[in-house]
Amino acid sequence: MNTSRAVNIEDLRRAARRRLPRAVFDYIDGGADREHTLAHNCRAYDDIIFRPRCAVAVPNYEMRTTVLGTEIAMPIILAPVGSSRMFYPRGEEVAANVAGSVGTIYTLSTLSGCLLEDVKKATTGPAWYQLYLIGGHDVARATIERARLAGYSALVVTIDTPVAGMRERDLRNGMKELVTRNPWKMLPFVMQFAVKPQWLAGFFSDGGMMKFPNVVLPGEGPMLYADVGTALEASVVTWADLKWIRHAWQGPIVVKGVHIGDDARRAIDAGANAIVVSNHGGRQLDDVHATIRALPEVVAAARGQVEVLLDGGIRRGGDVAKALCLGARAVLIGRAYAYGLGAAGEAGVRRAVEILRADLLRTIKLLGCPSTSALDRSYVEVPAEWEARVK
Ligand code: FNR
Repeated sequence: MNTSRAVNIEDLRRAARRRLPRAVFDYIDGGADREHTLAHNCRAYDDIIFRPRCAVAVPNYEMRTTVLGTEIAMPIILAPVGSSRMFYPRGEEVAANVAGSVGTIYTLSTLSGCLLEDVKKATTGPAWYQLYLIGGHDVARATIERARLAGYSALVVTIDTPVAGMRERDLRNGMKELVTRNPWKMLPFVMQFAVKPQWLAGFFSDGGMMKFPNVVLPGEGPMLYADVGTALEASVVTWADLKWIRHAWQGPIVVKGVHIGDDARRAIDAGANAIVVSNHGGRQLDDVHATIRALPEVVAAARGQVEVLLDGGIRRGGDVAKALCLGARAVLIGRAYAYGLGAAGEAGVRRAVEILRADLLRTIKLLGCPSTSALDRSYVEVPAEWEARVK
């Protein structure tokens, strides 16, 4: 794909759909159950109206900010996206490399197809490691030590995954059967791959990712793709675990998956340094509020004690601006760059970030706001019932 032709993220999404087998595209694109939250995450931004200040001359617009003390070129961070190596050869390394070159943070998922050491080496920028407690505390302790030695600067602990969400598209596409390596079970689902020879050639030349090299289970070696569902169920993260992680990892901790003010307080009590208001991109519990709607309650509960970030539904620079107006320090993007990766590898991720960066810059100019960090509530109008939730 000629990525310069992509005008917006939706264009990259369409290009990803063309290049990827249906099962892989749907794995990125889909959500849980009726996909209500997936849709709300995007649509809720429509309910926020800008209040621009016109006729304002600004000599230098500024998008740089800091998150947990690290300076980044724009308030947009790459979220952890598991199995990125399935979208494009060495996918996690490719995405990390782009993040570094544009001056932002890459977050590596526990469920990565590439070694965490290789991913860190692939980027010149800062990187965070997202931790699932798969395999228990001993396995986590070893991974935390590897992440520390490799140079990851923060640990992102995802707390909304006590079980994998019900992704109906994955079931229909045979994602379960496809990872069994049993030819008879796989057979009914292989046609969707046969019609995407370009993807197939890349997948096999890259070794045909079927395992997660950063989850090393004692006596078993790297965890296989087929075992993820069961492993996640056995790895629920509790507040007590978070306190344990606080002791095991001396650096900053980001708690990802907070929906309500009470959990923000619990995260702070357990030692979090930052919180991500996230519903996993609508892939876990369906029918929860869109994250942008949940944000004001969490910001109020955090009382300025920790940095509050947000992810979910970011497809335009205007969405980023709205999240910052409502108190987010920065946002994380998931699908926006995953579509780019699936569509065209490095060029696609770069284009996704560039689209959002240029959009955000244009938005602050049109708002008459000198910098992204100066965005606040005075630049937006939100529906009255959103305000009512914040006590
Ligand atoms: C994710 N997300 C995710 N989160 C996490 O903590 N660990 C993970 O391994 C994954 N894996 C993953 C795979 C795919 C394909 C997607 C799309 C998402 C969730 C991700 O970090 C983030 O919360 C959402 O993607 C944000 O929503 P948007 O930007 O995709 O709308």
